[in-house]
Amino acid sequence: MRHLSLCSSLLLLGITGLAQAADPVVPNKGALVYARPGSCVTCHQANGAGLQGVFPPLAGSEWLNRDSSVLIKIVLHGLQGPIAVRGQNYTTAMPGMATSLKDDEIADVLNFVQTTWGKVGEPVTAAAVAKIRAAEASRTTMWTGKELRP
Ligand code: HEC
Repeated sequence: MRHLSLCSSLLLLGITGLAQAADPVVPNKGALVYARPGSCVTCHQANGAGLQGVFPPLAGSEWLNRDSSVLIKIVLHGLQGPIAVRGQNYTTAMPGMATSLKDDEIADVLNFVQTTWGKVGEPVTAAAVAKIRAAEASRTTMWTGKELRP
């Protein structure tokens, strides 16, 4: 009997475990893309504050209020300064991530960035990323600040 009840408690534990595994708290996919080694976090930092004079902040950046097509372009092909962010000039460069990030990953990470530090507008979709990727397929250089200036 004792043995049996141990068995059933184990079974119960097992079932509870399974139920938990089947119904996990879905982590924010965009936050996970942001935090990957070599991804955005490396330069813009976990709190989005960047590194003064070197990596511009995303937190409070006026660039996040721009049309999301501008942000998609930056992530796909990178950005070469000079640009201004929150009154500070940056002449550094951000490499494009077109080959390391898929369309849905770029959509997820931009939705995470915008809901965390920028305006909350229409969500960026993987389809929107795919469209810009296709339109700019022949591009081999980073965007310049001048090209993307408002
Ligand atoms: C290797 C470092 C690096 C990585 C990785 C990186 N960035 Fe950047 N990012 C920069 C730099 C440097 C600039 C400014 C470039 C310039 O001076 O023109 C910038 C500019 C930007 C800007 C426009 C300016 C601003 O601060 O708002 C956005 C938006 C942005 N990055 C988003 C991202 C996102 C999203 C990711 C991840 C998918 C990412 N970056 C990954 C270095 C990086």
